[in-house]
Amino acid sequence: MVEAPVPAKAAGTSAAAMSAAHPGIRQKPVPLSAVEETGEERFSTGFAELDRVLGGGVVAGSMILLGGDPGIGKSTILLQAARNMAASGIDIVYISGEESLRQIKMRGRRIGSISDKLRFLCETDLESITATLQEEKPRLAIIDSIQTMYSAQVQASPGSIAQIREATGILLRLAKETGITFFLVGHVTKDGNVAGPRVLEHMVDAVLYFEGDRYASYRILRSVKNRFGSTNEIGIFEMRGDGLSEVLNPSEFLLSGRPHDVGGSVVTCSMEGTRPLLLEVQALVCHTSYGYPKRQSTGTDINRVSLLMAVIEKRLGVPMSQFDAYINLAGGIRQTEPALDLGIVMAILSSYRNVPVDDHMIVFGEVGLSGEVRAVSMAQMRVQEAAKMGFTVCVLPKSNMRRLQAPEGMRLVPVSSLAELIDVL
Ligand code: TYD
Ligand code: MG
Repeated sequence: MVEAPVPAKAAGTSAAAMSAAHPGIRQKPVPLSAVEETGEERFSTGFAELDRVLGGGVVAGSMILLGGDPGIGKSTILLQAARNMAASGIDIVYISGEESLRQIKMRGRRIGSISDKLRFLCETDLESITATLQEEKPRLAIIDSIQTMYSAQVQASPGSIAQIREATGILLRLAKETGITFFLVGHVTKDGNVAGPRVLEHMVDAVLYFEGDRYASYRILRSVKNRFGSTNEIGIFEMRGDGLSEVLNPSEFLLSGRPHDVGGSVVTCSMEGTRPLLLEVQALVCHTSYGYPKRQSTGTDINRVSLLMAVIEKRLGVPMSQFDAYINLAGGIRQTEPALDLGIVMAILSSYRNVPVDDHMIVFGEVGLSGEVRAVSMAQMRVQEAAKMGFTVCVLPKSNMRRLQAPEGMRLVPVSSLAELIDVL
C-alpha cells in the first residue's frame, strides 16, 4: 500500500460556485483552423534505428522514457546517442544517480572520444538537479535512472511510486518551462512494468523498451507509446566490445546460422509496422511420453500454436494429440502476427514427417479453423523482401495473388488450404 496525498477540496463544488471562483480568466474553445502551425524541431541521435523508432528523431522539448531490464544496455545506448548529438553541437547534461564519474568514464572509453559539449553530473537530489539545469540550460538532459532520484518534498524512499511520480512531475514542469528535452531511464520491475504500475507511461511523450536476451548480443528497441510517431517500429542493435551498433539488415541478422536440410525449419515473413522481417520458425515434434502432449513455444503465442495443431489434426488427420511440439522463433524475436500461421504449420508438418523444406522457400499466410489459408496484408512487401534476401520460392495465400507482382527470379506458389500445403511439402 502506498500513501497518495489528495489535494484539498475547493470550498464550493457547484458549477455556479466554480465559475464565480474564476472570473474573467477562462479560455475560449478555438477551431483548429485558428491554431498556428509550427513544424516540430527534431534532432538526430546519430542512430538511424533509434531515430526511426522515435518517429524521425528526437522532438525538441519532449520527454522520452527508456525502459528495460538492468544490464540490457540503456545507459550505453543513451551515452552513445548523447555522444553523437554532442558531436553535432548540442549541449547535453547526463545526470547519473547510479554510477560514479569514473565508471562513466570507463564506459565512455569503450565507445570512443566524447566532445566537451556533453557534460556529466552525479546527483540524485531533484531540487539540486532542477537548479543546476535551470542555470546550465542544456538543450537535452538524460536522467539515469528515474528510480534513483528523490525529492525532499515527498516523504517516501527513492524508487517508491510516490517518489517516481513526483520526480517525473517535477522534471515535466521543468521541461515545459525551459524547453529542455529529457531522456529518462526506467528499470523494468519483475512483473514487467516500468517503475511499477505504469505510473510514468501516461506522463511522458514517448515510451521505448529495450529488450533482448542478456546473454545474446542483439537488442531490440520497441516503441510502445509515441505522441510524435508510429508505435509499430522496432530498431535492432548488437552489443559489441565498443558499445551498441545498429543492425541495418535485420532479416539477414535473424536468419544467420540457419540449419540446412533439417526437418522443422521454415522461413516466414512478418511485418513490424511497415517493415518486413524474415524469421525462421523452428518446430520439434516428437512422440509424447506422458499422459497428454506437451506444447511449448518461444517467441510466439502458445495458444495460437495449440489451435493450429488442432486444425492440423482435424483437417489433415495427422494425430497431433500423440505428439509433443516445441516451437521457437529463432533470434529471440517475439511475433504474434497471424501471417506466421502458415509458416508454423509448415514447420510442424516438416518436423513431423522429417522432410526438410527447400532452403530458398519462404511461407506466409493466415490459417483459419476450417484449414483454409487466408489473405494477409502487405503481401507485395513480404515477397519483395524475400526476393531481396535471395529466396526463390514463395508459398502464399491464393487470395493474395490478385494484384501481386512476382519479383524477378521468384516463383509464387499459391495455396488455399492445408491440404494443398501438404502437396507443396
Ligand atoms: P548498461 O548500459 O550498463 O545497462 P543498463 O544501463 O541497461 O543497466 O550495459 C551493461 C552491459 O553491456 C554490461 O553487461 C556490459 C555490456 N557492454 C558491452 O558488452 N560492450 C560495451 O561496449 C559496453 C559499454 C557495455
Ligand atoms: Mg545503467
